[in-house]
Amino acid sequence: MKTIETLINQLEYISSYGDLSVPIFGIEYDSRNIKPDFCFIAIKGVKIDGNNHIQEAVANGARAIVSELPYNPIYQHVTWIQIKNSRFALSHLANVFYNYPAESAYVVGVTGTNGKTTISSLIYEIYNTIEKTAMIGTLGMKTREENLKTSLTTPESLHLLKFLSDIKQADYQTLVMEVSSVALVFHRTAHINFDQAIFSNFTGDHLDFHKTMEHYFESKLLLFKNLAAEKWAILNIDDPYSYRIIDEISCKYITYGFSEDADIRPVKYRLSLKGINATIVTPRSILEIKSNLIGKVNLSNILAAVASAIIKGIPDEAIIQAISNFKAVKGRLDVIYKNDFTVLIDYAHTDHALETLLKSLKELPHQRIIIVFGAGGSRDTTKRPRMGLAACSNADFVIITSDNPRQEDPNKIMDDIIAGFPPNFTNYSRETDRQKAIRKAIDMANKGDVLVIAGKGHEDYQIFKDRVIHFDDYEVAAQAIKEKHA
Ligand SMILES: Nc1ncnc2c1ncn2[C@@H]1O[C@H](COP(=O)(O)OP(=O)(O)OP(=O)(O)O)[C@@H](O)[C@H]1O
Ligand SMILES: [Mg+2]
Repeated sequence: MKTIETLINQLEYISSYGDLSVPIFGIEYDSRNIKPDFCFIAIKGVKIDGNNHIQEAVANGARAIVSELPYNPIYQHVTWIQIKNSRFALSHLANVFYNYPAESAYVVGVTGTNGKTTISSLIYEIYNTIEKTAMIGTLGMKTREENLKTSLTTPESLHLLKFLSDIKQADYQTLVMEVSSVALVFHRTAHINFDQAIFSNFTGDHLDFHKTMEHYFESKLLLFKNLAAEKWAILNIDDPYSYRIIDEISCKYITYGFSEDADIRPVKYRLSLKGINATIVTPRSILEIKSNLIGKVNLSNILAAVASAIIKGIPDEAIIQAISNFKAVKGRLDVIYKNDFTVLIDYAHTDHALETLLKSLKELPHQRIIIVFGAGGSRDTTKRPRMGLAACSNADFVIITSDNPRQEDPNKIMDDIIAGFPPNFTNYSRETDRQKAIRKAIDMANKGDVLVIAGKGHEDYQIFKDRVIHFDDYEVAAQAIKEKHA
């Protein structure tokens, strides 16, 4: 148990009102979770302003309020701390409340536009061969024992620090986590002391939030700028933004990539629909690796994980073994069938993602590439023709279908996608029923063909105007493959 005075110690605050010696039994930023003698931190979010919920927090028993607003005299029996930045304050208070959990932990942060989940999962697999390692990211908060689902790729500081505190009690000293740029701007990792920070790549994404590429990149840079001299930056040198990071950091760094200048690079590699074989040179040795992952982007992700493992001092045999055991993350370039033809599931649901996906498949030996996809209803309609164009420019045959039509008429959505095809493009068909569309694709697949089912990835539902049904690309495809071979 700590007093509010202890919790705000060393936090710069504007003013305080009331008794600072009150004991605090919990901290929360959601007023609905407040219990007696808790501290409520009012956060002004994008949609909700916690300051509008102070009354509810107090009614639920909040003993202390931390807010960017000055003391409001309608609240008589509370202690009030006015701070400059409520998100930073949340992280500060949580850090003290949970006894500085990041201080003695070894934490690896992974940032970049693409590849964060794959790189983190690879590192999780490799590190776990020699020590208990936890993971936080798109897949949830994961340990060897459990996996807690989360709604954010990088959770709020409060949950992050509590998780870290919990796992330390279970003897986990190491954590690998995805760090989104939004999280950096919102100080979610302000009190996480990173030992390694990995930069995968940088392309325009999340521009709705960041407005400009520059702002988006500056926010990623924060992770690296904050690294102390003895910490490590791990940089993808194939991405020119890495040179900008090098200019700005004061920590040690190591580079990976296909470039001759990379410290960790493949000197020889073979990419196929069966996976990746590569000979990788590192400052320490030469590694012969084999992986079930497909595509050049995944070899890049493997290089990042190798770099991290080498910095951590993990033996070569453990690295090789873990990489060879590693299976694709569900719904991400996930090959579910490789035999006479190949079937893979990927959650690409934007024109950019479809293009990247198809281009990386085109690099692998194949006959035809057949793609099945749709576009979500009641969401961005402008991407539909661009998705159509990306598909017809990079695949040999396109099957347009439904992908969560929501409030819209599925046929209208398909029309919008088809509007992106050039007038002379005829190698396509349309099938509103996603199950029939997948069956059709599997029926038409010949030897050597690659069939891509895109858009839903790990989702197991389909949303219509009036109902939500269970729908799983994995199940439908497996059944159709079985029937084709019956
Ligand atoms: N290194 C990479 N470079 C470019 N594209 C990649 C890379 N790694 C993966 N991808 C593509 O991006 C998709 C998402 O990969 P992953 O989930 O690992 O990234 P992420 O950064 O965690 O994404 P998100 O922001 O959606 O959580 C993959 O399906 C693949 O098509
Ligand atoms: Mg992710």
